[in-house]
Amino acid sequence: MKIVSVVGARPQFIKAAPVSRELRKEHKEILVHTGQHYDYFMSAVFFDDLGIPKPDYNLGVGSASHGGQTGEMLIRIEEVLLKEKPDWVLVYGDTNSTLAGALAAAKPSFGRLRTSIPVAHVEAGLRSFNREMPEEINRVLTDHVSDLLFCPTETAVRNLAREGITEGVHNVGDVMYDAVLHNIGIAEQRSHILKRLGIEPKAYLLATVHRPQNTDRVENLRSILSAFDALDEVIVFPAHPRTSEAIERLGYPLRSHVKLIEPVSYLDMLVLEKNARLILTDSGGVQKEAYFFGVPCVTLREETEWVETVEAGWNVVVGADTARIVQVVRSFATPTTRPILYGDGQAAVRCVASLSEDSKRG
Ligand code: UD1
Ligand code: UDP
Repeated sequence: MKIVSVVGARPQFIKAAPVSRELRKEHKEILVHTGQHYDYFMSAVFFDDLGIPKPDYNLGVGSASHGGQTGEMLIRIEEVLLKEKPDWVLVYGDTNSTLAGALAAAKPSFGRLRTSIPVAHVEAGLRSFNREMPEEINRVLTDHVSDLLFCPTETAVRNLAREGITEGVHNVGDVMYDAVLHNIGIAEQRSHILKRLGIEPKAYLLATVHRPQNTDRVENLRSILSAFDALDEVIVFPAHPRTSEAIERLGYPLRSHVKLIEPVSYLDMLVLEKNARLILTDSGGVQKEAYFFGVPCVTLREETEWVETVEAGWNVVVGADTARIVQVVRSFATPTTRPILYGDGQAAVRCVASLSEDSKRG
């Protein structure tokens, strides 16, 4: 089979790494990077760390409004698909790159391609049920044009069934768990991040913030930063470029126990996560990685797609309220058990097996 994989944003490089490794054992993969993320520490570092092959196409789309960015991707991905004529298009997660890849494949330009190209969606079926999130729109639309839907959990399978999608749905487990299992040993050997930052295991909190509702709504950003300020533990805060820009605009004077740093590499991030006493985040991937490492997580949002971590008692969804964040961080009661929720580390193998089977049937 010839498969075009579309990636573009930080978490997608991580999700694509295990799948790409598995795919390339028997199939031809054409890797398309939309260019949604482009700074070294948002993009190239992941290709270096994870040994992902160099993209065959870098579309160089860059930052823009949602319409501008998604539209530009759609135009350029379509050109690649018309040229490559793959058997499948593989998309990951819920970013604008995901939606553009799925739409370009699902709506063929007749005359140049006979039929649409089947779409496989890795991390299908997740829902926050908050349509204010651009990601929620991307997920719903992508799932509804996908032929194969690789879900990380049974919750995701149920979400799809509720929307009438039952064919081509497979619970394969979470490819991000595959990535953690593959890379944590490597990270512990190679990373010097704790030494570089002068911090000791379990003697700091780790924070990430990047959702528009927390960066572009000034009152939420101020409220979160006030909570960080009020906490009396060291906080390592690798900030997404969107967030550092917003903090600078706000001019918030953070005290010195908050270590605001550039985004870190994946290997450094794994080490920071594993050794944190607790993680504060509005990221989807980071909530799960906290769970994989048995680190308590406080989610700076009003809802989460990763509801199993909350039900298991390892994640508390607190929103952006200063007092609530401080109270939960100070009083978090760590559960004594941690059930297996996200598969067995073989999600990528299942995705590729299912693609092969489906192609034989088709
Ligand atoms: C995107 C995804 C989000 C995902 C996140 C992962 C969408 C709608 N959102 O959000 O689901 O959780 O990636 O990190 O697709 N910027 C840089 N350098 C870069 C990349 C971005 O400076 O390399 C800055 C630009 O000012 C840009 C802003 O960050 O406007 C936002 O980037 P964008 O890719 O539009 O959205 P993210 O917030 O990164
Ligand atoms: N990550 C990283 N360096 C950082 C912040 C995050 O390597 O400075 C990794 C993190 O370990 C996880 C992924 O990026 O694997 C999560 O991406 P992000 O939070 O940007 O997006 P989301 O998961 O919310 O879509």
